[in-house]
Amino acid sequence: MALILLFSIICLSHPQIELHVHLDGAIRVQTILDVARRRGISLPADTVEEMTQIIIVQKPASLTEFLGKFAEYMHVVAGDREAIKRIAYEFVEDKAKEGVIYVEVRYSPHFLANTQVDPIPWNQEEGDISPDEVVHLVNEGLKEGERAFNIKARSILCCMRHKPNWSMEVVELCKKYHQEGVVAIDLAGDESLNSEACPGHRKAYEEAVRCGIHRTVHAGEAVEVLKAERVGHGYRTLEDQGLYKKLLAQNMHFEVCPISSKLTGACDPDFTKHPVITFRKDKANYSLNTDDPLIFNSTLHLDYCTAQKYMGFTEEEFKRVNINSAQSCFLPDKEKKDLLNKLYEAYGMVQSTAF
Ligand SMILES: *[C@@H]1O[C@H](CO)[C@@H](O)[C@H](O)[C@H]1NC(C)=O
Ligand SMILES: *[C@@H]1O[C@H](CO)[C@@H](O)[C@H](O)[C@H]1NC(C)=O
Ligand SMILES: *[C@@H]1O[C@H](CO)[C@@H](O)[C@H](O)[C@H]1NC(C)=O
Ligand SMILES: [Zn+2]
Repeated sequence: MALILLFSIICLSHPQIELHVHLDGAIRVQTILDVARRRGISLPADTVEEMTQIIIVQKPASLTEFLGKFAEYMHVVAGDREAIKRIAYEFVEDKAKEGVIYVEVRYSPHFLANTQVDPIPWNQEEGDISPDEVVHLVNEGLKEGERAFNIKARSILCCMRHKPNWSMEVVELCKKYHQEGVVAIDLAGDESLNSEACPGHRKAYEEAVRCGIHRTVHAGEAVEVLKAERVGHGYRTLEDQGLYKKLLAQNMHFEVCPISSKLTGACDPDFTKHPVITFRKDKANYSLNTDDPLIFNSTLHLDYCTAQKYMGFTEEEFKRVNINSAQSCFLPDKEKKDLLNKLYEAYGMVQSTAF
């Protein structure tokens, strides 16, 4: 008992920052059931336990299999105003409960829409919620969550690899909602498609550079062509030592997601061989994140515990990770400084103040 308590205290290093988590991969199962009932959508299960069993990935799968999991529930929340706003609000609540004080949450506006999107995703009937309104609804949910739970939440809009046509619209939405909490653009989706250099994506990222929109990307190989400032995962850059050394030299930030990397088959399932161990040794710039806690039935706490238990992470390293996360976040400088000060204070690292 005492040991268990001790363990759970050690691997928690409050407060935390999370930079890589998908809104549509972080929905409460109860909410999926509630919304389905309200909308008269039938699901293969009607209890949280059973529905969780259906949605989650329990052992290493392929990325394609993993992406298929979204089809189990996305049709329930997509195209429904109340649901879209609710998942954003509840997301903030869940993160606050985990001890996160600043989070950047990402999603594809197109995947939650049911009009002005081609094709209409998840076999929905055409409705009246456009990608633009999705962003507006998520912004509202996040903002209400921030007020209710006293943490800071910003969002990142995702382009989808298989949909280069959507990317210009995504960057336009980033521009339009820049003042409403949208801080960056991302490129997500099935990496086996290898389409990050498509003109559609490239043009969108060029426009992002031109307009001062921050950029991250789910693909280490594409960091340079897309002028990304952070990379989602990026484990495979280790296989190209030239690229890896270059990224290290420029302090590239790696958004590491330990549990996700095992369950999506991105890394050797043996956590003791995880690339983040090399990142740590090389003093690389990285964060620890959940990616899709709904689909992995995980929490940020579980990712930290995994890093501690199998990868030799210490409390000191967790502090360094969170400080790097704050330094690499997409907030404006003044807010970033405030966030860093909060961490220094919480971690007992406050330097003498100059009077
Ligand atoms: C999901 O995680 C919770 C908490 O760790 C656990 O109690 C539950 O059994 C898990 N559910 C499934 C279906 O694995
Ligand atoms: C989308 O891409 C297809 C080719 O994949 C092209 O034929 C079509 O015109 C594009 N649509 C738009 C709206 O850009
Ligand atoms: C990580 O990146 C941020 C932003 O680019 C930078 O301020 C910070 O110093 C970097 N940290 C390390 C350890 O390179
Ligand atoms: Zn991701």
